[in-house]
Amino acid sequence: MLEGESIKLRQVEEKDLSKLRDWRNSPHIRAYTREYRPLNMLKQNTWLSSLSTDQTTIMFVIEELESSEAIGCCGLTYINWKEGCGEVSIYIGEEKWQGKRYATDALQILLKYGFHELRLHRIYAVIFEYNEASIKFFEKNGFKFEGKHREARFWNGKFHDELVYGILDYEYPVLQKS
Ligand SMILES: CC(C)(COP(=O)(O)OP(=O)(O)OC[C@H]1O[C@@H](n2cnc3c(N)ncnc32)[C@H](O)[C@@H]1OP(=O)(O)O)[C@@H](O)C(=O)NCCC(=O)NCCS
Repeated sequence: MLEGESIKLRQVEEKDLSKLRDWRNSPHIRAYTREYRPLNMLKQNTWLSSLSTDQTTIMFVIEELESSEAIGCCGLTYINWKEGCGEVSIYIGEEKWQGKRYATDALQILLKYGFHELRLHRIYAVIFEYNEASIKFFEKNGFKFEGKHREARFWNGKFHDELVYGILDYEYPVLQKS
């Protein structure tokens, strides 16, 4: 549907749900998402149905162009149409696919879609302070540190800060030219 250099973003289908469930339940993704209950197929089916009516969430499967294999998931959530903002959700499902710039490609398509198609003004990410890969990833993609929610995340027996990073529509074209 939306094509980048090495991946495309396409709609989520029923056939993807078990894979997405397993990825989201895996330790290396679960540590970085807000979901704390194990996902099952009932929840997955409910989520997919909700996507067709929920005006505040738009999700895509990230598919590798070469193999047509699903490698992750991304989208915009908590979209606030009045204020023109939305939160990025993104993950690459397996560690073997991370570090290959697939997420960079996916995020750039998502930003273009958000700013040039949905007419959003601000796109932001909420990152747990211990997620160093994600902090570097968003900084590298032009997101600026906006502030933190102090001790908003409880994980592994401790409270951690949540960092908010964001990018504005007029910062996006500047990024494309550099
Ligand atoms: C964050 C995430 C999406 C990045 O995906 P990715 O495909 O590995 O990212 P890319 O290959 O496009 O990397 C782009 C940049 O991100 C940074 N980065 C990515 N992985 C990193 C790591 N493990 N450690 C440090 N920096 C990292 C680097 O700056 C990298 O640029 P470089 O290769 O020039 O150094 C991936 O690590 C992931 O799925 N993490 C688990 C879920 C998650 O944390 N999602 C975000 C929640 S806010």
